[in-house]
Amino acid sequence: MTRFQSGVIAEANADALFITLNINRSPESADCLRQVLAEVPATEQGFRQRYPDADMHITVAIGSEYWDQLSPQQRPAQLRAFPALSNDGISMPHTPVDLLLHIRSERHDLNYEVAALFSEKLTGHAELAEEVHCFRYLDSRDLTGFVDGTENPEGDHRAEVALVGEEDSVFAGGSYIHLQRYEHDLKAWNQIPLQQQEDILGRTKADNREYASADKAAFAHTKRASLKGSEGRSIEILRHSMPYGNLTRRGLMFAAYCRSAEPFTKILESMVLGDGSGHHDHLMNFTTAVTGQAFFAPSSAWLEKLI
Ligand code: HEM
Repeated sequence: MTRFQSGVIAEANADALFITLNINRSPESADCLRQVLAEVPATEQGFRQRYPDADMHITVAIGSEYWDQLSPQQRPAQLRAFPALSNDGISMPHTPVDLLLHIRSERHDLNYEVAALFSEKLTGHAELAEEVHCFRYLDSRDLTGFVDGTENPEGDHRAEVALVGEEDSVFAGGSYIHLQRYEHDLKAWNQIPLQQQEDILGRTKADNREYASADKAAFAHTKRASLKGSEGRSIEILRHSMPYGNLTRRGLMFAAYCRSAEPFTKILESMVLGDGSGHHDHLMNFTTAVTGQAFFAPSSAWLEKLI
C-alpha cells in the first residue's frame, strides 16, 4: 500500500493543535511550501524517534482553493469547496484557507515545538489564519459532557474508510478532510434537563448507552448522522474531533477524514436540511459552526515527490 500520513488513521491522542494558514500568492512561496511539505514525513519520523512515547503525528493537508497553485497538473478527483449550507436558522459557513497542519501527540510541549518549527520554516510565505489547541476532556467527552467518537470505525476498517484507494490511483493513500470549528452555547445547553440532552444525542450521558433505534427522535444527532447508502451499507467517516477552549470561548474542532468527499457532505445535509419533514439535528441549536474548510491530505509518498 502507498505510504500514507500516519495521522490519518492513528487512534486519538491526548493533545492536538489545528493550525490553518494562508500562503502568499507568489511562485517563491509555492516553492517554499513544496520544500516544507516534502520534508514532513522525515520531520515526523525524527520526532517519533527522539520521543518514542509521545506518539507524534503531523498531518498536512492542502485547501481546495489553494490546491491548483501547488499542483496545477494533478488534482484529487473529489476535492471541491466546503459544502456551505443553511436552513432553519442553522448555518454551516465556508471559510476557505490554504493549508492545515494537524499536529497531535501525548505531549502539549512537543506539539508546540512542531508548530514553532513549521512557523519558522514558512516565515515570510504564510499568514496564520487560526491556531486551536485541543485537549482530551475526561474520558474522551465533548464539552457537552457526552462521549464523542464511540461509533468511529475500528481496526483495519479505519484505513478502508479514510484512505483513497485505486479509484484515484495518483492520490491513493490520501484522505479528504472537512474541518469545522464549532462554538458551543454551554449556558443554554446546561439549562436543559438531562433527559432532553440525551434525547438530542440519542445516547445516555453518564454511561454512553445508545438508544434503541425505535426510541431515537428524528432530530437526534446520532439519528441524523447515521445514514445508509443505496446498497444498505453505512455511510462512514473517521472523526478526529477534539474539544478546545477556555472559560469564554469553547467548543469542538470537528474533523472528518474520508476516502471520498461525499459521506461528510451527505451527513451534513442530513443534519442541517433534516429528514424532509422539518426535523433538523437539534444538537445544532446549541452550537455554531464558525469555520468550514475542505482539504486533501496527500500520501507521504506524494509529498516527498514535490521536490
Ligand atoms: C456521533 C458529538 C458534529 C457525525 C456523535 C456522538 C457525539 C457527537 C457525542 C455520539 C458518540 C459517537 O458515536 O461518537 C458531536 C458534536 C458536534 C458534532 C458535539 C458538533 C458540535 C458532527 C458533524 C458530523 C458528525 C458535523 C458530520 C457531518 C457524526 C457521526 C456519528 C456522530 C457519523 C456516529 C453516529 C452513529 O453511527 O451513531 N457526535 N458531533 N458529527 N457524529 Fe457528531
